[in-house]
Amino acid sequence: MNKFTTTSFAKSKKEGRKISMLTAYDYSTAKLLDEAGVDSILVGDSLGMVVLGYENTLQVTIDDMIHHTKAVARGVKNAMVIGDMPFLSYHVSIEETIKNAGRLIQEGNAHAVKLEGGTEIIPQVEALVKAQIPVIGHLGLTPQSVNMFGGFKVQGKVEDQAKKMVEDAKQLQKAGAFAIVLECIPEKLAELISKSIEIPTIGIGAGKYCDGQVLVTQDMLGMFSNFTPKFVKKYADLGDSIRKAVTDYCSEIQNGVFPETKHTF
Ligand code: KIV
Repeated sequence: MNKFTTTSFAKSKKEGRKISMLTAYDYSTAKLLDEAGVDSILVGDSLGMVVLGYENTLQVTIDDMIHHTKAVARGVKNAMVIGDMPFLSYHVSIEETIKNAGRLIQEGNAHAVKLEGGTEIIPQVEALVKAQIPVIGHLGLTPQSVNMFGGFKVQGKVEDQAKKMVEDAKQLQKAGAFAIVLECIPEKLAELISKSIEIPTIGIGAGKYCDGQVLVTQDMLGMFSNFTPKFVKKYADLGDSIRKAVTDYCSEIQNGVFPETKHTF
């Protein structure tokens, strides 16, 4: 299998081939996803919730992201690795934005970075692209704005919001982003955005007309039960399997069933 790159993103949209993306935060999961043939792996700042146990993504730092991106990159041969820029890592200045994104590439071994926001972050996107750092945008329910949105709510239902999102997508494309994640927006709006721009859209809770799809791996494998958004499809119930395996292990220790002779030196 060939390496999936920014060029593969563009080629996929041109050829009408859908792009697959999943999140990973550690070496062994990233290795499994890569072996299974996923096109791209996002080291999302959802790390804060599904791995670090925070309530939202706001406490995740650039050092957290670099630490986990490094681990993921070590497990990947073909998929494109995208490092998420966490809250405040691209809001203070252009200089800090480039330094932080540069660390995700240089220390984390990511191939690209993802930033949340539209027209308000265009100067950062332009500066990153000028610095030869590929950028994915992220519009709709951008979790770093949870306090501004007043909760995790579907975005773009109101006409003004929807119009702004179409404009945001066009501006991101013009600034040099090579793809845009669309999170939790009405399917019709995602379709309109996807048809209005040449770069691929990657949907999460944005319906089937996006050029690709992304899910949080812990959600689709049934490993994270604090809450499950409507847009998640569970492809496995590893949570149940893990609980059962651990219960069996504990009881086999008590009953003297484990370890057997074959596990013994
Ligand atoms: O942090 C993340 O995992 C994300 C995806 C949900 C798109 O941004």
